Amino acid sequence: MTWWQEAVFYQIYPRSFLDTDGDGVGDLEGVRRKIGYLVDLGIDAIWMSPIFPSPMADFSYDVSNYCDVDATFGTLESFDRLVDECHAAGIRVILDWVPNHSSSQHPWFMESRSATTSEKRDWYVWRDVNPSGTLPNNWLRSWSDEPAWTLDAPTNQYYLHCFLPEQPDLNWANVEVRQAMANTLRFWLDRGVDGFRMDVIHLIGKDPQLANDPEEIRGIGHVPLNDRIETHGYLREIRSVLGEYDDVVSVGEVYLLDPEAVADYYGSGDELHLSFNFASLLTPWRAEAWRALIERTESSHNRVGAWPTWVLSNHDNQRVATRLKGDRARIRAAAVLLLCLRGTPFLYAGEELALRDAHIEEHQVVDPGKRDGCRAPLPWESSGLHGWPAVPWLPFSAEPEIYSVQAQELDDESMLYFVRLLLRTRRSSEALRRGTLDALSAVNDVLSFERSRGDERVGVLVNFSREHRSIVAPAAQHELSTVRATVERVEGSVVLEPGESLIRFF
Ligand code: NOJ
Repeated sequence: MTWWQEAVFYQIYPRSFLDTDGDGVGDLEGVRRKIGYLVDLGIDAIWMSPIFPSPMADFSYDVSNYCDVDATFGTLESFDRLVDECHAAGIRVILDWVPNHSSSQHPWFMESRSATTSEKRDWYVWRDVNPSGTLPNNWLRSWSDEPAWTLDAPTNQYYLHCFLPEQPDLNWANVEVRQAMANTLRFWLDRGVDGFRMDVIHLIGKDPQLANDPEEIRGIGHVPLNDRIETHGYLREIRSVLGEYDDVVSVGEVYLLDPEAVADYYGSGDELHLSFNFASLLTPWRAEAWRALIERTESSHNRVGAWPTWVLSNHDNQRVATRLKGDRARIRAAAVLLLCLRGTPFLYAGEELALRDAHIEEHQVVDPGKRDGCRAPLPWESSGLHGWPAVPWLPFSAEPEIYSVQAQELDDESMLYFVRLLLRTRRSSEALRRGTLDALSAVNDVLSFERSRGDERVGVLVNFSREHRSIVAPAAQHELSTVRATVERVEGSVVLEPGESLIRFF
């Protein structure tokens, strides 16, 4: 077992974590000041969404320099200090690497765009305007029904951008691009980072023919459709760069919504170390749907010897507490699933508070993908500006006085208390961290499974229904409930409260 198989990762969206310099945007110093909070929470590693210099068309997912820190967030010195202090506190740090596209303001693209004869022309994907005047193909960019191509009038060619026109796709078929990007990995690894989350990594290999996407699914952007053999070769090269360093991890954003497809991106242990498995974000709150997802994840990942990951929220999707409509029992049961299933969990900052998305008025939207709600700032304090020194760049979610860290630290029935307890429970249980997953079933809208390792056996029950459910189950030595302090047994059965989840230690 490696550290990244047992670790709980905590995703920080730096703009929304904590501001310290009064510009309303979170910064690296804000993360540094909360290292104590992260230690108390009980996570093992942080993944920070991008902090690189950027014109901010997509908030640092449009990178204009891969080897520096945007002044909004701090400096290379404040970065080094943060990494050193995290390491001293036993927390590893991974960065968000954005290899598929740069900013249109990156010097590479500016040079590429300067002339068709530019030395860097082939670093991006350029195509001639064809005689009939049609676009190079029918690919659509994300977040709109616009084409993934923009005409550069001075050179009369189109360039490809699977996201915004401000995010031109790099041409990974070009070996110089691959070498330059490998050096950006080395730059941060030399500074001591423990690995990378790799943005839309399944997108870097493109069909050399740039064939049209199927007409019958017109309307879907190209991103979730790109599943190419070329990417696997590039991933093996990336893995060997990471192999120049000890014990570092890659976790790929493989935005393909089937666990089978996701598992292929681990290669034969020579591609990604871990890959996100986003099907959980779309799975309805029903025991049978979760049983099927868990079974498919287990079988596809076991087939190739891959270690699964689990995620319920991130900076691109509605938060789990919003999807579960603020239902207290269900939100806690979801946290039980995240932290007790077999695999590496990714907890999104604020999930430990059961934070919901903010309500964003039309005039407050700043994100081109309209994902502002799930990026609302973290409320640290109950009143005033909730611990922020200035009005933050996005509004807070509803009821920050209840969902603040300060309020929940004072309430031993809060979500924060519960998540801390869950994280401690997981840390002290080899079965939960490393054990097998068996006896998976869904009966009468109750999901159950077991985790075991050596002599340790842990059972997990989740009542997805809104009614009491009686389950025949052997006595446990002790159990942890999401909704009550003690659990009673009636004639060899456990009666689950509506929405309740139990972790049972045998
Ligand atoms: C996926 C990231 O998670 C998202 O926030 C970003 O907008 C796109 N990739 C483009 O980089």
